[in-house]
Amino acid sequence: MRVMVTGAAGMLGTDVCRALDEQHEVIAADIIGDCKWVSADGCRQLDITDSGQTLEVIADVKPELVVHCAAYTDVDGCERDPDRAYQVNAYGTWNVAAACEQVGAAILYISTDFVFDGEKGDDYDEFDTPNPISHYGRSKWAGEQLVREVCRRHYIVRTAWLYGENGKNFITTIIKAASEGKNLRVVADQIGSPTYTKDLADFVASQAGSPLYGTYHVTNKGSCSWHELAVKSIELAGIKDVHVTPIQSSDWPTPTRRPKQSVLRHLSLEMQGRDNLRTWEEALSEFVEKWITAKQ
Ligand SMILES: NC(=O)c1ccc[n+]([C@@H]2O[C@H](COP(=O)([O-])OP(=O)(O)OC[C@H]3O[C@@H](n4cnc5c(N)ncnc54)[C@H](OP(=O)(O)O)[C@@H]3O)[C@@H](O)[C@H]2O)c1
Repeated sequence: MRVMVTGAAGMLGTDVCRALDEQHEVIAADIIGDCKWVSADGCRQLDITDSGQTLEVIADVKPELVVHCAAYTDVDGCERDPDRAYQVNAYGTWNVAAACEQVGAAILYISTDFVFDGEKGDDYDEFDTPNPISHYGRSKWAGEQLVREVCRRHYIVRTAWLYGENGKNFITTIIKAASEGKNLRVVADQIGSPTYTKDLADFVASQAGSPLYGTYHVTNKGSCSWHELAVKSIELAGIKDVHVTPIQSSDWPTPTRRPKQSVLRHLSLEMQGRDNLRTWEEALSEFVEKWITAKQ
Protein backbone atom coordinates (compact mmCIF):
# COMPACT_ATOMS: atom_id res chain seq x y z
CA MET A 1 0.00 0.00 0.00
CA ARG A 2 0.97 3.66 -0.34
CA VAL A 3 2.18 4.90 3.07
CA MET A 4 3.32 8.37 4.08
CA VAL A 5 5.52 8.85 7.15
CA THR A 6 5.62 12.17 9.07
CA GLY A 7 8.70 12.92 11.18
CA ALA A 8 10.59 10.68 8.75
CA ALA A 9 13.96 12.26 9.61
CA GLY A 10 13.58 11.38 13.29
CA MET A 11 14.92 8.41 15.24
CA LEU A 12 11.79 6.27 14.88
CA GLY A 13 10.66 7.74 11.54
CA THR A 14 13.88 6.63 9.82
CA ASP A 15 13.43 3.01 10.93
CA VAL A 16 9.71 3.07 10.12
CA CYS A 17 10.50 4.14 6.53
CA ARG A 18 13.05 1.32 6.18
CA ALA A 19 10.72 -1.32 7.64
CA LEU A 20 7.74 -0.23 5.50
CA ASP A 21 9.88 -0.10 2.37
CA GLU A 22 10.18 -3.91 2.38
CA GLN A 23 6.51 -4.31 1.45
CA HIS A 24 5.01 -0.91 0.73
CA GLU A 25 5.45 2.24 -1.29
CA VAL A 26 6.84 4.81 1.16
CA ILE A 27 6.65 8.61 0.96
CA ALA A 28 8.77 10.34 3.59
CA ALA A 29 7.97 13.80 5.01
CA ASP A 30 9.60 15.93 7.67
CA ILE A 31 9.80 19.56 8.72
CA ILE A 32 13.33 19.90 7.32
CA GLY A 33 12.41 18.22 4.02
CA ASP A 34 15.52 16.04 4.21
CA CYS A 35 15.60 12.48 5.57
CA LYS A 36 18.52 10.08 5.98
CA TRP A 37 16.40 7.29 4.53
CA VAL A 38 15.96 8.96 1.12
CA SER A 39 17.78 11.64 -0.87
CA ALA A 40 16.76 15.25 -0.28
CA ASP A 41 14.48 15.32 -3.32
CA GLY A 42 12.70 12.18 -2.10
CA CYS A 43 11.56 13.72 1.18
CA ARG A 44 8.56 16.04 1.26
CA GLN A 45 8.85 19.19 3.35
CA LEU A 46 5.93 19.27 5.78
CA ASP A 47 5.34 21.35 8.90
CA ILE A 48 2.37 19.67 10.57
CA THR A 49 1.49 22.85 12.48
CA ASP A 50 0.51 24.43 9.12
CA SER A 51 -3.00 23.07 8.49
CA GLY A 52 -3.15 24.29 4.87
CA GLN A 53 0.20 22.76 3.96
CA THR A 54 -0.64 19.51 5.76
CA LEU A 55 -3.85 19.08 3.79
CA GLU A 56 -2.15 20.12 0.55
CA VAL A 57 0.75 17.65 0.93
CA ILE A 58 -1.43 14.73 2.07
CA ALA A 59 -3.96 15.40 -0.71
CA ASP A 60 -1.10 15.48 -3.22
CA VAL A 61 0.56 12.28 -1.94
CA LYS A 62 -2.79 10.40 -1.70
CA PRO A 63 -1.62 7.85 0.88
CA GLU A 64 -3.76 4.96 2.08
CA LEU A 65 -2.07 5.20 5.49
CA VAL A 66 -0.15 7.95 7.27
CA VAL A 67 2.26 6.82 9.99
CA HIS A 68 2.45 9.90 12.17
CA CYS A 69 5.83 10.00 13.97
CA ALA A 70 6.37 13.78 13.92
CA ALA A 71 6.31 15.31 17.39
CA TYR A 72 8.00 17.77 19.72
CA THR A 73 9.82 15.10 21.73
CA ASP A 74 12.03 17.21 24.02
CA VAL A 75 10.19 16.40 27.26
CA ASP A 76 11.83 19.17 29.32
CA GLY A 77 11.44 21.57 26.36
CA CYS A 78 7.68 20.85 26.44
CA GLU A 79 7.61 21.74 30.14
CA ARG A 80 9.36 25.05 29.45
CA ASP A 81 7.29 25.85 26.34
CA PRO A 82 3.87 24.18 26.71
CA ASP A 83 2.37 26.21 23.86
CA ARG A 84 4.85 24.66 21.44
CA ALA A 85 4.10 21.20 22.89
CA TYR A 86 0.35 21.62 22.20
CA GLN A 87 0.99 23.34 18.84
CA VAL A 88 2.96 20.37 17.49
CA ASN A 89 1.74 17.34 19.45
CA ALA A 90 -1.96 18.21 19.70
CA TYR A 91 -2.87 20.70 16.96
CA GLY A 92 -0.28 19.33 14.53
CA THR A 93 -1.75 15.88 15.06
CA TRP A 94 -5.24 17.33 14.57
CA ASN A 95 -4.10 18.68 11.18
CA VAL A 96 -2.68 15.30 10.13
CA ALA A 97 -5.77 13.39 11.34
CA ALA A 98 -8.17 15.80 9.59
CA ALA A 99 -6.23 15.58 6.33
CA CYS A 100 -6.26 11.77 6.55
CA GLU A 101 -10.03 11.75 7.06
CA GLN A 102 -10.44 14.18 4.15
CA VAL A 103 -8.49 12.02 1.67
CA GLY A 104 -9.76 8.66 3.01
CA ALA A 105 -6.45 7.57 4.55
CA ALA A 106 -6.04 5.73 7.85
CA ILE A 107 -3.68 7.15 10.49
CA LEU A 108 -1.25 5.36 12.78
CA TYR A 109 -0.32 7.73 15.61
CA ILE A 110 2.71 7.06 17.81
CA SER A 111 1.93 7.86 21.45
CA THR A 112 3.67 7.37 24.74
CA ASP A 113 3.70 5.87 28.26
CA PHE A 114 3.77 9.50 29.46
CA VAL A 115 -0.04 9.57 29.06
CA PHE A 116 -0.09 7.67 32.40
CA ASP A 117 0.80 9.06 35.83
CA GLY A 118 2.85 6.00 36.86
CA GLU A 119 1.01 5.63 40.19
CA LYS A 120 -0.97 2.44 39.42
CA GLY A 121 1.59 0.13 41.02
CA ASP A 122 1.11 -2.37 38.18
CA ASP A 123 1.49 -2.51 34.40
CA TYR A 124 -0.87 -0.33 32.33
CA ASP A 125 -3.08 -1.93 29.69
CA GLU A 126 -4.90 -0.22 26.85
CA PHE A 127 -8.08 0.19 28.95
CA ASP A 128 -6.46 2.06 31.83
CA THR A 129 -7.41 5.71 32.03
CA PRO A 130 -4.62 8.13 31.14
CA ASN A 131 -3.72 10.86 33.61
CA PRO A 132 -0.64 12.65 32.29
CA ILE A 133 1.51 14.60 34.75
CA SER A 134 3.63 16.63 32.30
CA HIS A 135 2.97 18.98 29.39
CA TYR A 136 4.59 16.48 27.02
CA GLY A 137 2.25 13.74 28.30
CA ARG A 138 -0.80 16.01 28.21
CA SER A 139 -0.03 17.19 24.67
CA LYS A 140 0.41 13.60 23.42
CA TRP A 141 -2.81 12.53 25.20
CA ALA A 142 -4.58 15.46 23.53
CA GLY A 143 -3.15 14.21 20.22
CA GLU A 144 -4.62 10.75 20.89
CA GLN A 145 -8.06 12.18 21.64
CA LEU A 146 -8.01 14.32 18.48
CA VAL A 147 -7.03 11.31 16.37
CA ARG A 148 -9.94 9.31 17.84
CA GLU A 149 -12.39 12.18 17.27
CA VAL A 150 -11.30 13.25 13.81
CA CYS A 151 -10.18 10.19 11.81
CA ARG A 152 -12.43 7.15 11.77
CA ARG A 153 -9.80 4.60 10.76
CA HIS A 154 -7.01 4.99 13.29
CA TYR A 155 -4.41 3.02 15.18
CA ILE A 156 -2.92 4.52 18.35
CA VAL A 157 0.40 2.87 19.21
CA ARG A 158 1.77 3.71 22.66
CA THR A 159 5.43 2.97 23.22
CA ALA A 160 8.20 3.94 25.66
CA TRP A 161 11.90 4.56 26.32
CA LEU A 162 12.95 4.45 22.64
CA TYR A 163 16.50 4.11 21.38
CA GLY A 164 17.86 3.45 17.89
CA GLU A 165 20.65 4.15 15.44
CA ASN A 166 19.22 7.41 14.12
CA GLY A 167 18.86 9.67 17.14
CA LYS A 168 20.36 10.87 20.38
CA ASN A 169 19.36 8.45 23.10
CA PHE A 170 20.09 7.31 26.65
CA ILE A 171 22.05 4.16 25.71
CA THR A 172 24.64 5.84 23.48
CA THR A 173 24.98 8.77 25.89
CA ILE A 174 25.71 6.36 28.77
CA ILE A 175 28.15 4.20 26.78
CA LYS A 176 30.06 7.27 25.56
CA ALA A 177 30.34 8.66 29.10
CA ALA A 178 31.40 5.27 30.50
CA SER A 179 34.03 4.80 27.77
CA GLU A 180 35.54 8.13 28.84
CA GLY A 181 35.97 6.62 32.31
CA LYS A 182 33.34 8.84 33.90
CA ASN A 183 31.65 7.49 37.01
CA LEU A 184 27.92 7.84 36.59
CA ARG A 185 24.85 8.57 38.72
CA VAL A 186 21.63 7.18 37.25
CA VAL A 187 18.02 7.27 38.47
CA ALA A 188 16.91 3.93 39.94
CA ASP A 189 13.31 4.69 40.98
CA GLN A 190 11.70 5.03 37.53
CA ILE A 191 10.67 1.77 35.88
CA GLY A 192 9.80 1.28 32.21
CA SER A 193 10.38 -0.85 29.13
CA PRO A 194 13.31 0.12 26.90
CA THR A 195 12.30 -0.31 23.26
CA TYR A 196 14.43 -0.61 20.14
CA THR A 197 13.04 1.53 17.30
CA LYS A 198 13.80 -1.29 14.86
CA ASP A 199 11.38 -3.63 16.70
CA LEU A 200 8.67 -0.99 16.93
CA ALA A 201 9.16 -0.15 13.23
CA ASP A 202 8.71 -3.83 12.33
CA PHE A 203 5.44 -3.85 14.28
CA VAL A 204 4.26 -0.70 12.48
CA ALA A 205 5.01 -2.27 9.11
CA SER A 206 3.12 -5.43 10.09
CA GLN A 207 0.11 -3.37 11.18
CA ALA A 208 -0.22 -1.48 7.86
CA GLY A 209 -3.42 -2.66 6.18
CA SER A 210 -4.80 -4.45 9.25
CA PRO A 211 -8.56 -4.04 9.76
CA LEU A 212 -7.97 -4.15 13.53
CA TYR A 213 -8.00 -0.42 14.21
CA GLY A 214 -7.70 0.74 17.82
CA THR A 215 -5.18 1.20 20.61
CA TYR A 216 -2.02 -0.88 21.04
CA HIS A 217 0.77 -0.96 23.61
CA VAL A 218 4.03 -1.92 21.88
CA THR A 219 7.38 -2.10 23.69
CA ASN A 220 10.11 -4.65 24.08
CA LYS A 221 9.14 -7.14 26.81
CA GLY A 222 10.17 -6.90 30.45
CA SER A 223 11.09 -3.83 32.44
CA CYS A 224 13.93 -2.20 34.33
CA SER A 225 15.04 1.06 35.91
CA TRP A 226 17.24 3.62 34.12
CA HIS A 227 20.02 2.47 36.45
CA GLU A 228 19.63 -1.19 35.41
CA LEU A 229 19.51 -0.11 31.77
CA ALA A 230 22.75 1.86 32.16
CA VAL A 231 24.54 -1.03 33.89
CA LYS A 232 23.39 -3.53 31.22
CA SER A 233 24.39 -1.21 28.34
CA ILE A 234 27.88 -0.70 29.78
CA GLU A 235 28.27 -4.45 30.36
CA LEU A 236 27.20 -5.23 26.76
CA ALA A 237 29.67 -2.63 25.48
CA GLY A 238 32.43 -4.52 27.33
CA ILE A 239 33.41 -1.53 29.47
CA LYS A 240 34.81 -2.42 32.87
CA ASP A 241 35.68 -0.55 36.07
CA VAL A 242 33.01 2.12 35.76
CA HIS A 243 30.89 2.72 38.81
CA VAL A 244 27.22 3.47 38.22
CA THR A 245 25.65 4.87 41.38
CA PRO A 246 21.88 4.37 41.75
CA ILE A 247 20.16 7.62 42.76
CA GLN A 248 16.59 8.78 43.42
CA SER A 249 14.66 11.02 40.98
CA SER A 250 14.75 13.71 43.69
CA ASP A 251 18.58 13.68 43.45
CA TRP A 252 18.37 14.49 39.71
CA PRO A 253 15.95 17.41 39.46
CA THR A 254 14.49 18.10 36.01
CA PRO A 255 11.72 20.51 34.93
CA THR A 256 9.46 17.50 34.16
CA ARG A 257 7.69 15.10 36.53
CA ARG A 258 8.10 11.65 35.01
CA PRO A 259 5.93 8.59 35.68
CA LYS A 260 7.55 6.35 38.33
CA GLN A 261 6.33 3.06 36.89
CA SER A 262 4.94 3.12 33.37
CA VAL A 263 5.33 -0.41 32.07
CA LEU A 264 2.86 -1.02 29.23
CA ARG A 265 1.11 -4.38 29.13
CA HIS A 266 0.44 -5.49 25.51
CA LEU A 267 -3.15 -6.54 26.16
CA SER A 268 -4.39 -5.92 22.59
CA LEU A 269 -1.57 -7.98 21.09
CA GLU A 270 -2.01 -10.72 23.72
CA MET A 271 -5.74 -10.99 22.90
CA GLN A 272 -4.93 -11.13 19.18
CA GLY A 273 -2.34 -13.90 19.82
CA ARG A 274 0.54 -11.93 18.34
CA ASP A 275 2.50 -10.57 21.28
CA ASN A 276 5.82 -11.61 19.81
CA LEU A 277 8.06 -8.69 20.77
CA ARG A 278 11.45 -9.83 22.07
CA THR A 279 12.79 -8.91 25.53
CA TRP A 280 14.50 -5.57 26.13
CA GLU A 281 17.76 -7.40 26.94
CA GLU A 282 17.78 -9.25 23.57
CA ALA A 283 17.00 -6.09 21.63
CA LEU A 284 19.58 -4.04 23.55
CA SER A 285 22.25 -6.62 22.92
CA GLU A 286 21.68 -6.42 19.13
CA PHE A 287 21.66 -2.62 19.21
CA VAL A 288 24.86 -2.24 21.24
CA GLU A 289 26.71 -4.74 19.05
CA LYS A 290 25.61 -2.96 15.86
CA TRP A 291 26.38 0.48 17.25
CA ILE A 292 29.88 -0.53 18.36
CA THR A 293 30.60 -2.26 15.03
CA ALA A 294 29.44 0.82 13.08
CA LYS A 295 31.79 3.02 15.12
CA GLN A 296 34.87 0.84 14.41
N1 LIG B 1 11.86 8.87 22.17
C1 LIG B 1 11.11 8.19 23.03
O1 LIG B 1 11.60 7.66 24.03
C2 LIG B 1 9.62 8.05 22.78
C3 LIG B 1 8.87 7.30 23.70
C4 LIG B 1 7.50 7.15 23.46
C5 LIG B 1 6.90 7.70 22.35
N2 LIG B 1 7.67 8.45 21.49
C6 LIG B 1 7.00 9.02 20.31
O2 LIG B 1 7.60 8.44 19.17
C7 LIG B 1 7.55 9.37 18.06
C8 LIG B 1 8.91 9.47 17.43
O3 LIG B 1 9.84 9.90 18.42
P1 LIG B 1 11.41 10.01 18.15
O4 LIG B 1 12.07 9.66 19.42
O5 LIG B 1 11.77 9.34 16.88
O6 LIG B 1 11.53 11.60 17.99
P2 LIG B 1 12.43 12.50 17.04
O7 LIG B 1 13.70 11.83 16.71
O8 LIG B 1 12.47 13.83 17.74
O9 LIG B 1 11.53 12.60 15.71
C9 LIG B 1 10.47 13.48 15.58
C10 LIG B 1 10.56 14.12 14.22
O10 LIG B 1 9.45 15.03 14.06
C11 LIG B 1 9.95 16.22 13.48
N3 LIG B 1 9.09 17.36 13.76
C12 LIG B 1 9.08 18.16 14.85
N4 LIG B 1 8.18 19.15 14.71
C13 LIG B 1 7.60 18.97 13.48
C14 LIG B 1 6.62 19.68 12.74
N5 LIG B 1 6.04 20.79 13.23
N6 LIG B 1 6.28 19.22 11.52
C15 LIG B 1 6.85 18.09 11.01
N7 LIG B 1 7.81 17.40 11.65
C16 LIG B 1 8.18 17.83 12.88
C17 LIG B 1 11.31 16.38 14.14
O11 LIG B 1 12.10 17.32 13.45
P3 LIG B 1 13.19 18.21 14.29
O12 LIG B 1 14.10 17.21 14.94
O13 LIG B 1 13.83 19.03 13.22
O14 LIG B 1 12.40 18.99 15.30
C18 LIG B 1 11.84 14.96 14.04
O15 LIG B 1 12.40 14.71 12.76
C19 LIG B 1 7.00 10.66 18.66
O16 LIG B 1 5.62 10.73 18.38
C20 LIG B 1 7.20 10.51 20.15
O17 LIG B 1 6.26 11.26 20.88
C21 LIG B 1 9.01 8.62 21.67
